[in-house]
Amino acid sequence: GRHGPLAGARVVVTAGPTREPIDPIRFISNHSSGRMGYALAEAARDAGAQVTLITGPTERQLPFEVEVVHVQTAAEMAEAVQAAVETADALIMCAAVADYRPSRVAPEKIKKTEEQLSLPLERTIDILASVQRPGLVKVGFAAETERLLEHGRAKLEAKRLDLLVANDARETMGREESQAYLLTAEREPEALPRLPKTVLAEIIVDRVARLVRARRAT
Ligand code: C5P
Repeated sequence: GRHGPLAGARVVVTAGPTREPIDPIRFISNHSSGRMGYALAEAARDAGAQVTLITGPTERQLPFEVEVVHVQTAAEMAEAVQAAVETADALIMCAAVADYRPSRVAPEKIKKTEEQLSLPLERTIDILASVQRPGLVKVGFAAETERLLEHGRAKLEAKRLDLLVANDARETMGREESQAYLLTAEREPEALPRLPKTVLAEIIVDRVARLVRARRAT
């Protein structure tokens, strides 16, 4: 068996970007590298948890002793998360899920013309907000380019999270390090120093372990 503060716990981590197809050869995506999510999966595993990593396409090496589910779109990620959280103690939603997708996927390659081209987009499902299993510890991330704490607080409440990790999108995406704030409903925001994502992951996992323990004690 496993040892550590998350021994006996099941943790679901999402990581990386999603890809929303435009036509058979094109998609909409973002700069997420998966680094933070993969670090979280490894930190949770090292803390003794049984980990499911649900990942969009990334260049990262797959972690050992972690169940990995590969997805492409937000809809696929939503389905995988819904299935995985049924038996989980915590969901750490680190993936940079696309907020919009093309309303219609063209069945053939879209040919260029001299005209301007517009693509109608529709909202994707908000996975984190839609997961409502009682007792599940929910952790979200917010990457913002302005008014970080204000937007972070709003997300914590709207998505009913136990913990929100807020950071500056320009400073964190694709980088090795991150300067994050930890937000909870009860306390003032906690500013962490600039840290390697592997170290930040250990701190977040430690908080998750405390939240899981507190939940189990009630
Ligand atoms: O609202 P916003 O996208 O900024 O919130 C970010 C948080 O919500 C992240 O934890 C992200 O993984 C999650 N999210 C989600 N489904 C979406 C968009 C974001 O679960 N469609």
